[in-house]
Amino acid sequence: MAYFLGSVPFAVLVSRAMGLEDPRQYGSGNPGATNVLRSGNKKAAILTLVGDALKGAVAVIAARMLAEAFGLSEFDAAAAGLFAFLGHVFSAFLRFQGGKGVATAAGVLMAMSPVVGGLTLLCWLTVAISTRYSSAAALAAALTAPALTYWRTPELAWTVSVAAMSLILIWRHKENISRLITGQESRIGNKKR
Ligand code: G3P
Repeated sequence: MAYFLGSVPFAVLVSRAMGLEDPRQYGSGNPGATNVLRSGNKKAAILTLVGDALKGAVAVIAARMLAEAFGLSEFDAAAAGLFAFLGHVFSAFLRFQGGKGVATAAGVLMAMSPVVGGLTLLCWLTVAISTRYSSAAALAAALTAPALTYWRTPELAWTVSVAAMSLILIWRHKENISRLITGQESRIGNKKR
């Protein structure tokens, strides 16, 4: 269930609902909030960000509620978070060609531990504001999150889940990394190219 929830492609759905071009057709081609922002429509980008983050958070919260009812453990919540993330990245509704997972991972982290989620967000904001590169901010947050999770959550399952998300997220940013190295990466707020 978490996988199919994570598969819901808010970037594509919001863009379609608002009469915008499919985000897979411009900019980085990524169905995510950063790329939707390149359309120039801030509202669409915010809706995409909130939708993608909520599906990660809802998966974890729902798993915890079900865990209480069925006597399951926090392991199930960690698995639900990971599967929601995998749903976003390998979306069943986009022929398994989904996004990079940043907003969904943020939602998972916030639901897992507001302290870890908040500190990771602070890391993202620090890099994003100082460089204006969304990808660099996401990479810095991905490197930070597993250590913060290990520090703040007693269940090893969460550290494994967050570390797996970070590795996949970094791998999904390989083209961004090349563009950062060659100085061709687009900064936050830059329009379609
Ligand atoms: O959230 C994805 C971001 O880190 C990079 O997006 O569109 O620049 O590849 P984009």
